[in-house]
Amino acid sequence: MGLPATYLDPKIFPPNAEFLDNSPYIRCFIENPNHIGLHTYHSSLPAFNGTQKIELDLLRICAEEIFQGKSNSYDGYVASGGTECNIQALWIFREYFINKFNSKINEIAVLFSEDSHYSLYKACNILRLNFQQIRVDFNNRDLDLEHLEKIIKILKRKGVKYFIIVLNLGSTMFGSIDPINKISKVINFYNLNCKIHVDAAFGGFIFPFTCLNNKFNFKNPLIDSISLDGHKMLEAPYGAGIFLIRKGLIDNILTKEASYIEGLDHTLCGSRSGANAIATWMILNIYGSKGLIKRMEGFIKKTDEICDTLNELDIYYFRNENMNIISIQNGQISEDICKKYTLVPDTHIGKSQWWKIVVMEHVNRNLINQFINDLKKVDII
Ligand SMILES: Cc1ncc(COP(=O)(O)O)c(C=O)c1O
Repeated sequence: MGLPATYLDPKIFPPNAEFLDNSPYIRCFIENPNHIGLHTYHSSLPAFNGTQKIELDLLRICAEEIFQGKSNSYDGYVASGGTECNIQALWIFREYFINKFNSKINEIAVLFSEDSHYSLYKACNILRLNFQQIRVDFNNRDLDLEHLEKIIKILKRKGVKYFIIVLNLGSTMFGSIDPINKISKVINFYNLNCKIHVDAAFGGFIFPFTCLNNKFNFKNPLIDSISLDGHKMLEAPYGAGIFLIRKGLIDNILTKEASYIEGLDHTLCGSRSGANAIATWMILNIYGSKGLIKRMEGFIKKTDEICDTLNELDIYYFRNENMNIISIQNGQISEDICKKYTLVPDTHIGKSQWWKIVVMEHVNRNLINQFINDLKKVDII
């Protein structure tokens, strides 16, 4: 009786419709559990205990099975998406430096590649954090390590003592992966006091399945937190961001004033639907790890096929071999083809330099064949 919500309005969303019997996700929508708060904590709202347990199992699969963390060594929650996860990470690390080292805001800097997602600019703006973009090589999208070192030296000279470094596990436009080992050497060389967040919103549900031995996991002591997005590679409904962070760090942003919520609140968003957690949990459980490896390998195979044709036609593109994004340099294929196949340009403001293809389920054999035929007809413009 004390809660403001129980289930959806039954006049508009009838709870007894026949199709609901075999639709646990839609049924959950109608039941409308609110997953407010953080369930990896010792207590949270008891009213939605049942579906919260499913969220906990989803976090276990992501943190322990996919990202190789130990049980009870992480906190996390299902967020609105990659944007919220990135803001949440930067917020936690800003407060960590303030709480632990009495840092001033201008003694903290956020570093990320110029290929990073725009949500980081949003995050730095909201949190009033200084940031620096690190250049990448135009052709191979590799982070320019010399530029990284130069920026670190300049910032240190200006009095920056604390760094938040955001690494791409699949950049949005290119699917490029930041060189974690090389960056780790730079961090050690300059003895940086830093926290590392991995933005795996794009690549987090493909790269671990297509490159089984990689350093982007919680076994790597360098990594403090990870953003994931079920509503990208897993084709989950929107609202399936997953935020993971090493245990305890999230306490830096505990909102103690959330006193009417049992367990208080450690999240940015407040109320959130439990249905998204259930949908993502269903996908992971139904496929299983073998099923997901197969599915993601299928995406890679189709990506390879398109790349073979591009190679044959001498069309310049960028692609990471473990990812399903192909970015074709502007001018290499006709704009009519780009538009016909709804390729996405790197910018809608001014002249674009790249057009990207994201190979997933919807990029089916028919579509690929048509695209290849069109490319071969027009060839290089
Ligand atoms: C690498 C990366 N980070 C963050 C985001 C933001 O995700 P969302 O739109 O779910 O907030 C995206 C979205 O494309 C992304 O590709």
